[in-house]
Amino acid sequence: MKKIAVFVSGRGSNLVALHKAILDGKLQAEITMVISNRSKAKAIEYCKEKNIPYKVFKKKDYPDRKSLFESIGELIDSLDVDLLVHAGFMLLTPDNFTEKYYGKMINIHPALLPSFPGLHVQKKAIEHGVKVSGCTVFFIDTGCDTGPIIIQKTVPVLEQDTEETLSARILKEEHNTLWRACKLVLEGRTEIDGRRVRITEEK
Ligand code: GRF
Repeated sequence: MKKIAVFVSGRGSNLVALHKAILDGKLQAEITMVISNRSKAKAIEYCKEKNIPYKVFKKKDYPDRKSLFESIGELIDSLDVDLLVHAGFMLLTPDNFTEKYYGKMINIHPALLPSFPGLHVQKKAIEHGVKVSGCTVFFIDTGCDTGPIIIQKTVPVLEQDTEETLSARILKEEHNTLWRACKLVLEGRTEIDGRRVRITEEK
């Protein structure tokens, strides 16, 4: 069974959706470990409820980000994890960690990259006046939301949209997209070719 580690910091709705896709048999994998930088994250409540292993790594317990991620790396390696999934994880990974796991670490972002990287992107999309937005799943590289794109899904931006309504529409799409990206990567159907991710047919 392929092993996934999910990195979270908050609500955890993408973690729940990913777990559900596994329980529904859409994704042949297990969530081997959930890693959080916040013990009070709602995502951790879900792990406790569903008996999903988790570990909290708090910034204040480490002299710097590099040593914090060294500990995370040791845990990941000891578990032989196949895929690292960032789902609302708010810590930036240091370059040496990112480089080590390049090609097996992905992130989900609530906008159509390369437009609107960073934070509060649904608000920025509305303010900019775009007519479509959506979500992007990509391989994490050393930039901020700059890595090669695996899947994007679009949603319309409606006249009456607020940050909340647009976020909810995008989030629904995120939940249906993240497991698909995990499946592609875990089945070895993604090939990184410079900036492009080539997707091969299902075998
Ligand atoms: C999602 O919108 C995700 O795209 C972004 O952070 C949010 C996390 O939400 N990176 P949740 O914790 O999965 O509910």
